[in-house]
Amino acid sequence: TYVIALPCVDVKDRACIDECPVDCIYEGERTLYIHPDECVDCGACEPVCPVEAIYYEDDVPDEWADYYTANVEFFSEIGSPGGAAKVGPYAFDHALVSALPPRGG
Ligand code: F3S
Ligand code: F3S
Repeated sequence: TYVIALPCVDVKDRACIDECPVDCIYEGERTLYIHPDECVDCGACEPVCPVEAIYYEDDVPDEWADYYTANVEFFSEIGSPGGAAKVGPYAFDHALVSALPPRGG
């Protein structure tokens, strides 16, 4: 799967959403999350993110390694909706993201 890391938080450019052929990039309150079971590893989202927040799971920089878990655990109660557009933004985040101070930008 691909992973969205810290640079997306409080930025949420959303360019990635338009590129994903399976609509598996879901919006939380402060960042977006890639569904680990729905992502087909096409990689189309990675180059369009203006802040380079998206990485293949094996390539996530060490400092942001926890974001792999955050992208997985964000869906522990949501499950697998099979498409982000129909569920709309969620009004919460993974605890890792909620705990961050506001990021400028
Ligand atoms: Fe975030 Fe980049 Fe997508 S900032 S919403 S991961 S284009
Ligand atoms: Fe979609 Fe990116 Fe995965 S475009 S299928 S989330 S690699």
